[in-house]
Amino acid sequence: MTKYSIEFRDVWKIYRGNGIDYPALRGVGFVVEKGEFVALQGPSGSGKTTVIYLAGGLDTPTRGEVIVNGENIGRLSEGKRAKWRRRNVGIVFQFFHLVPTLTVLENVILPMELAGYPPKEKRLERAEELLEIVGMKDKEEKFPNQLSGGEQQRVAIARALAADPHIILADEPTANLDTRNKLKIIDLLIEANRLGKTILYTTHDPQLASKADRLLKIIDGRIVSD
Ligand SMILES: Nc1ncnc2c1ncn2[C@@H]1O[C@H](COP(=O)(O)OP(=O)(O)OP(=O)(O)O)[C@@H](O)[C@H]1O
Ligand SMILES: [Mg+2]
Repeated sequence: MTKYSIEFRDVWKIYRGNGIDYPALRGVGFVVEKGEFVALQGPSGSGKTTVIYLAGGLDTPTRGEVIVNGENIGRLSEGKRAKWRRRNVGIVFQFFHLVPTLTVLENVILPMELAGYPPKEKRLERAEELLEIVGMKDKEEKFPNQLSGGEQQRVAIARALAADPHIILADEPTANLDTRNKLKIIDLLIEANRLGKTILYTTHDPQLASKADRLLKIIDGRIVSD
């Protein structure tokens, strides 16, 4: 057990492909306290997405331990990890990853159905509240391809918050957005943090990294300072 929200202990991630092993993470250790707002900054290929995938239980470490919200991710079976993920983390991706065949409203309701939380009768109301917060209530009947990138990312943030996880992970959530939308997305993450969420987000952008309470830097699969 750990008192931290996220803890990486000497984590190695070695991708195996075409007979070649590539160590994307080479002994990464850091913690994120409950309620912290932390940016992970580093150049392309340094291992940021890998960290987010491991913290979100989308993948497991080759060596070392990843402990998130009290759960040792590497010890869970794939099925248990998926179940754990639905209740414990909300993930925001660089390319939004909304379900194209569902409306905005349905996209935000979906994680609640998968998590079985909150109870059925509260889901519609909660989705509408979240869409109000991210400024997308008036577009709830639209489909993702009818929205701009910034709008899609606002919906993705509402979706990440839907099942009320303690932790929000965001992988370059502003990389495909113009400056105005970038700042809006960061403000929404700050707002989620005020609501008590622990936030870990990755970015290339020093200006956006500077909005965090604390900065972790990663280079070549190693944390260089914090
Ligand atoms: N599935 C994979 N198989 C093999 N190598 C991979 C795989 N995924 C990532 N890598 C390699 O691992 C390293 C870290 O990748 P990662 O995606 O975590 O970097 P990143 O910091 O997110 O980069 P970017 O800023 O470009 O998104 C890179 O060198 C990448 O080529
Ligand atoms: Mg990446």
